[in-house]
Amino acid sequence: MSTHSEKSAPLLAARGLTKTHGRTPALRGASVELHAGEILAVTGASGSGKSTLLHCLAGIVRPDEGSVVYGGTRLDRLPEKRLSELRRTDFGVVFQFGQLIPELTALDNVALPLLLAGASRGEAHRRAGEWLERFGVLGQKELRPGEMSGGQAQRVSLARALVTGPKVVFADEPTGALDSLSGEQVMSALVHTAREARTAVLLITHDAQVAAYADREVQLRDGAVVPLGVAA
Ligand SMILES: Nc1ncnc2c1ncn2[C@@H]1O[C@H](COP(=O)(O)OP(=O)(O)OP(=O)(O)O)[C@@H](O)[C@H]1O
Ligand SMILES: [Mg+2]
Repeated sequence: MSTHSEKSAPLLAARGLTKTHGRTPALRGASVELHAGEILAVTGASGSGKSTLLHCLAGIVRPDEGSVVYGGTRLDRLPEKRLSELRRTDFGVVFQFGQLIPELTALDNVALPLLLAGASRGEAHRRAGEWLERFGVLGQKELRPGEMSGGQAQRVSLARALVTGPKVVFADEPTGALDSLSGEQVMSALVHTAREARTAVLLITHDAQVAAYADREVQLRDGAVVPLGVAA
């Protein structure tokens, strides 16, 4: 089902990640690879370490041990300033529990990454509007996050993650607050965009219907990837 050559170097590779929050081990030797343009679903029980893995891969959290290599660069060793710059240019993130800026409208939330990248206000608003439309929330462009439904906020978060044309999108349960029809609409918009722009997508989901949109699926259990053939 996978479209990439198994021999090509992965775009992003994590090896042997461990991460402990206080005394809770969240990751215990997790390894995963993502190829350019690949859509990878990460599934697993609640608490199995999915969000922690995403945060380590996206350079938001540094692992305690192990390596994260993106396009030949060790992300886990990159100084903070270069890391945040790389996150801004190459990555788009949809967090599990929103992260929209409460004071800004939907349109301004989506325009912000473009403004940070140097776009003019008019251009940023024009492109932000196009992305809101793609995800079916242009009608909500003047709403602030506190005035949106959970599903509308998720659509706006996706628009914000994709607006800069990132190489990798990390999406943590992007359809978790949506009914199945809206979930399908959002997933087809996401997959269509990813295929068109050859964007790699790491998609966390507990929904088998959503995972079915991916090229490949890995399952986490107790902070590690379940070996092939063992996954239930
Ligand atoms: N910031 C934190 N502080 C303390 N413990 C944490 C923190 N983040 C995660 N944990 C713990 O680490 C483990 C893995 O959490 P994580 O959020 O990665 O799981 P998950 O697979 O995303 O779960 P869910 O499906 O419920 O979102 C859990 O036991 C959780 O309680
Ligand atoms: Mg989670």
